[in-house]
Amino acid sequence: MLPPRTDFPEGFTFGAATSAYQIEGTRGAGLSHWDSFAATPGNIIDASDGSRACDHLTRWPEDLDLVRDAGFDAYRFSTSWARVMPDGVTVNPQGLDFYDKLVDGMLERGLQPFLTYHHWDLPADLAAQGGWQNRDIAARFADLCRAVNARIGDRMTSAATLNEPWCIAWLSHFLGAHAPGLRDIRAASRAMHHVLLAHGTAMQALRADGADNLGIVLNFETSHPADDTPEALGAAETQDAIYNQWFICALMGQGYPDAALAGIGPHLPQGWQDDMALIAQPLDWLGVNYYTRRLYTGNAGLWPHASEAPGPLPKTQMDWEIRPEGLTEFLTRLARDHTGALPLYVTENGMALEAGGGTGADITEDARRIQFASDHLRATKAAMDQGVDVRGFFYWSLLDNYEWGWGYGPRFGLVHVDYETMTRTPKSSWHAFRSMLKG
Ligand code: NOJ
Repeated sequence: MLPPRTDFPEGFTFGAATSAYQIEGTRGAGLSHWDSFAATPGNIIDASDGSRACDHLTRWPEDLDLVRDAGFDAYRFSTSWARVMPDGVTVNPQGLDFYDKLVDGMLERGLQPFLTYHHWDLPADLAAQGGWQNRDIAARFADLCRAVNARIGDRMTSAATLNEPWCIAWLSHFLGAHAPGLRDIRAASRAMHHVLLAHGTAMQALRADGADNLGIVLNFETSHPADDTPEALGAAETQDAIYNQWFICALMGQGYPDAALAGIGPHLPQGWQDDMALIAQPLDWLGVNYYTRRLYTGNAGLWPHASEAPGPLPKTQMDWEIRPEGLTEFLTRLARDHTGALPLYVTENGMALEAGGGTGADITEDARRIQFASDHLRATKAAMDQGVDVRGFFYWSLLDNYEWGWGYGPRFGLVHVDYETMTRTPKSSWHAFRSMLKG
């Protein structure tokens, strides 16, 4: 059972989240680096791409009905850079037409639009110029934000510049798991800085254009030592600095953490210190994405001297450990060490689970997801009870969708998608939210 809505304060926002590349289908958009990454053998588990995805491009009215009918207050979505600017710089008005319609569709249904300007589909032309490794990306990104804001900003409840800069920079340029698929410390270090510079530059541009209620969405993942050797402790601390401190410290004017600078510092662009004030633009809120924890052992090889180890906790379809208390820990730690009184939103939380919970033919059976959501809602509430100002919770995701390097196997949706027929079928988790939210 999900906790009753009355456990949360009046005005607390409940929403469902998606992103453009994962659901829209790419018809009418320019090429993005995800298209070319997905076309490279070995990058995606099922060799799929986002070309059709959930065909949200045509089915969006039905999808927004599903958000409304579940009783959600808000819908978190992203704009596709390659749809808005197919070559990365020139605005395509027809690309913006889609978001114009979509936003009006939200308002007609009484849903608050929570926009993310960029959720990973970088135009291929910009990628060819070095993408996040090239300092120019900051100005290009600010241009994207201005163009989108000029068209739909008047109807936004809230807007985030970027989704999960750790994934944009580290997962993509150091771990090689996302586009552009590099395993290169120099490229990664530059991306780790430029992604923040892009955020700061865009924040300034958006404020100058009169936009308000602006934030950014970061991901946090508990990093624990797999054993009590000094090597494992050191590995977990370094991972925590790269993952959970790098971005928030810079955004809050606290500089980059030493444990991460030890490996990244030598590869940062020259003069990076001069950008730190621009990066630390005032925020109106911070988005927190939380899914799991990871265990680390020491690794005698190159920095960051860490290898992942399997953990003992129950796991999702993607083998991610389920640990709800980590969400309480991050929300309280953020407020204590970094954000103070800044309003926080849980902008993503959810689990991958086989159709029917892996138990049979009934694709609506979703008891494990209900339990997962329930435990994480309670974990959110626990942080609020300790005084943290959390303003909302967005479930990831409304629909089963394209899970990046994992393809279409993992199912995160409250609504099942049949990828042959595109039929949407609400799962028992969707009904559980509906009962909770509609009382
Ligand atoms: C975070 C990302 O924002 C989203 O795109 C992804 O599907 C979920 N996590 C699940 O991995």
